[in-house]
Amino acid sequence: MSAQAPTVPLLTPYKLGKFILSHRVVLAPLTRQRSYNNLPQPHSILYYTQRTSNGGLLIAEACEVSETARGYSDMPGIWTKEQVEAWKPVVDAVHAKGGVFVCQIWHAGRVSNSEFQPNGQAPISCTDKPLTPQLRSNGIDVDEFTPPRRLMTDEIPQIVNDFRLAARNAIEAGFDGVEIHGAHGYLIDQFMKDQVNDRKDQYGGSLENRCRFAREIIEATVNEIGADKVGIRLSPFADHMESVDSNPEALGLYMVQSLNKYRILYCHMVEPRMKATGVKNESPGSLLPMRKAFSGTFIVAGGYDRKDGNNAVAEGRADRIAYGRWFLSNPDLPKRFELNAPLNKYDRSTFYTSDPVVGYTDYPFLETTA
Ligand SMILES: Cc1cc2nc3c(=O)[nH]c(=O)nc-3n(C[C@H](O)[C@H](O)[C@H](O)COP(=O)(O)O)c2cc1C
Repeated sequence: MSAQAPTVPLLTPYKLGKFILSHRVVLAPLTRQRSYNNLPQPHSILYYTQRTSNGGLLIAEACEVSETARGYSDMPGIWTKEQVEAWKPVVDAVHAKGGVFVCQIWHAGRVSNSEFQPNGQAPISCTDKPLTPQLRSNGIDVDEFTPPRRLMTDEIPQIVNDFRLAARNAIEAGFDGVEIHGAHGYLIDQFMKDQVNDRKDQYGGSLENRCRFAREIIEATVNEIGADKVGIRLSPFADHMESVDSNPEALGLYMVQSLNKYRILYCHMVEPRMKATGVKNESPGSLLPMRKAFSGTFIVAGGYDRKDGNNAVAEGRADRIAYGRWFLSNPDLPKRFELNAPLNKYDRSTFYTSDPVVGYTDYPFLETTA
C-alpha cells in the first residue's frame, strides 16, 4: 500500500456562499498605485491572472468609491462608467482562469491630501483632528495629510450612498462581490475608533453610535447587491494611521455580532500582531472571541506563513487565510504551499511604485518540470 500524502489544511476545499473554492489561500487586498488616472490598466490583467488559481479567491486592491475617497495617487476607482469598463477585462480574465474575484471598496477619509480632493478642498472625516505625517509600509516614503473637515450629520447619508453605488458598479463590472474596507485607519475605521471619533451626534460617543456609519454602509450595500456578495474587512486592534480604540476586543465583538444578522459572505479580520499594515509585532490580543461570535465565514490576515496558516485552519481559528506580501512576491503561492516549495522574497522598495512591471508582474513562478 502506498503511503498517502499528508493533508495540507490550506489546500482543502471550502464552500464560500455559492462558490466552491479549491483551497484556503486568499489574495489579500494590495494597493499597487499603478492605475493611472484612477483606471485599472492592461497590466492589471497580467498581475491578477498571475495570482489566479482555479477555485481561488482574490480580493482586489482598495478601489475608491468617489472623488472624495481618494488618498493616494494612481489607485483605481469604481465610481465612474469609464472605471467600470476598465475593470471588466480584468475581472473577465480572472474568471476565465476559474478565480472568484471580490472588489475592495474604500474611502480614505482624513488619510488624504487636498491635492487628491475635488477643487482642492479638505479631505472629509468624522473629525477635524489632523493626522501627523506617516511612514509608508515600504519603509521609505512619508505621506503628508491636509487637516480634514468634519462631516456634518446630514452629509453622512451621501457617503453611505457612495458605497452603495460603488457596490452596484462592482457587480456591473463583473466582480463576484465586494469587500467593504473597514480597516487600517481609513474613513470607516475613523468613525469606529474612539481615539479618532470625537463627534457629539448619533455617529459619535457610544460604541453603538461609532459603529453606526459602518452598519449603515453594510445595510445599504446588502440591500443593493445581496448579502451573499458582501464581505467586510476590519482591524480593531490596529493603530495604523493613528486610528486607535481603547477597547479593541469590545469593538471587534460588537461588530461581528452586528454582522450576524445580515448573513454576509464573510468577515475578514486583521491579526492584532499587525499593528501597522506592514510590520509584525507581538500582541496579547486575539481574534478568537470574534471568530467564535461570528456565525459566517471568517478570514484572517496578517503575518501568516505556510505553517501558521495550516495550523489556523486545522485548529478552526479561521476558515481561510489571506496572504499579502507573500502572495505579492509569489504569484503561484497556493502551488508553492502545496509542494512546500521555497518562496521568493518580496521587495518593499517597489510596493508603491508606479512601473507597470517592476515589483508587480516580474516575480518568478516556480520552475516545474513537466
Ligand atoms: C503593498 C501593500 C498594499 C496594501 N494594500 C491594502 C489595501 O489596499 N487594502 C487593505 O485592506 N490592506 C492592504 N494592505 C494590507 C494587506 O492586505 C495585509 O493585511 C498585510 O500585508 C498583512 O498581511 P501579510 O503579512 O500577509 O502581508 C496592503 C499591504 C501592503 C504590503
